[in-house]
Amino acid sequence: MNLEINENFGVKLMKHLLSMEDAREEVDEILDLAGKFKMRAIPGEPLAKKSLAMIFEKASTRTRVSFEVGMYQLGGNALYLSSDDLQLGRGEIIEDTARTMSRYVDGVMIRAIEHEDVLEFSLNSSIPVINGLTNKEHPCQALADLLTIYESKGSFNVTLSFIGDGNNVCNSLLFASAFTGMDMNVVCPPQYKPDFEIVKKAEEYAEKTGSKLKITDNIEEGLKDTDVIYTDVWVSMGDEAEASKRISDLKDYQVNREALTLADPNAIVMHCLPAVRGQEITEEVINSDQSVIWNQAENRLHAQKAILYRLLKD
Ligand code: CP
Ligand code: NVA
Repeated sequence: MNLEINENFGVKLMKHLLSMEDAREEVDEILDLAGKFKMRAIPGEPLAKKSLAMIFEKASTRTRVSFEVGMYQLGGNALYLSSDDLQLGRGEIIEDTARTMSRYVDGVMIRAIEHEDVLEFSLNSSIPVINGLTNKEHPCQALADLLTIYESKGSFNVTLSFIGDGNNVCNSLLFASAFTGMDMNVVCPPQYKPDFEIVKKAEEYAEKTGSKLKITDNIEEGLKDTDVIYTDVWVSMGDEAEASKRISDLKDYQVNREALTLADPNAIVMHCLPAVRGQEITEEVINSDQSVIWNQAENRLHAQKAILYRLLKD
């Protein structure tokens, strides 16, 4: 796969994947590897005898299964560790957990409530740490999504419109767009805008690649002629207490048949999943010909393997 996105931002190779920003120099390499894994073009067991600890403070289907199966397919193994079952859940500090894990396993993937906790873990860890979703970012999702967009559209010379809650997934997609030169519109009510610092940084990267980033609350403007419509749940994990307010605030930002008529007729529809049919997206759109949601879910496996290979291989 020749992605032609060798923009050099002048940093060292990534040691951890805590933010999508960590992958900025290596997006093309990771996507190329992911494509090769998908085509079964990398033989053998490159991570034989390697172990990945997977710490979860929140539920997961795709991230857990794709990392676990990915490690197995690469010849290694993965340990599912619910934070409730670790001493971490009884108050052992992150620093001690990170130091201990570093003596047993070759990498750690963490799905944490607080982004800062993943950063702290990495600072006390001598092995690679991968962010499997925090309140701030979802870099593994964004890398897999780039693969899906490239496969579906054949280039990054497209516009991605993210509609709904400008949360963790949206934040990582802003970096992903800025690094690849893709244009991105975030379409959301003012109080659901993405992280201010991330927008600022993404805009700086976007200046170098020519990517145009726009935030608007106007659905017509944000979806006009777009190539990729992307949404995420309105009530993320941890937001349950404000569910009814969120559903009411975001009700006009649903991906439905009418929304699709605003976009390019060949636009694809993406959703990181899990989805709540009837809230952020309709059943009809999920099952439409324009939906690439199941390819997108599959690509988590191939992208995860690329990330693991890149960070854990000797
Ligand atoms: N998209 C995603 O990360 O899904 P899970 O929460 O099921 O892992
Ligand atoms: N924004 C969602 C993403 C789930 C993969 C959440 O944080 O729950």
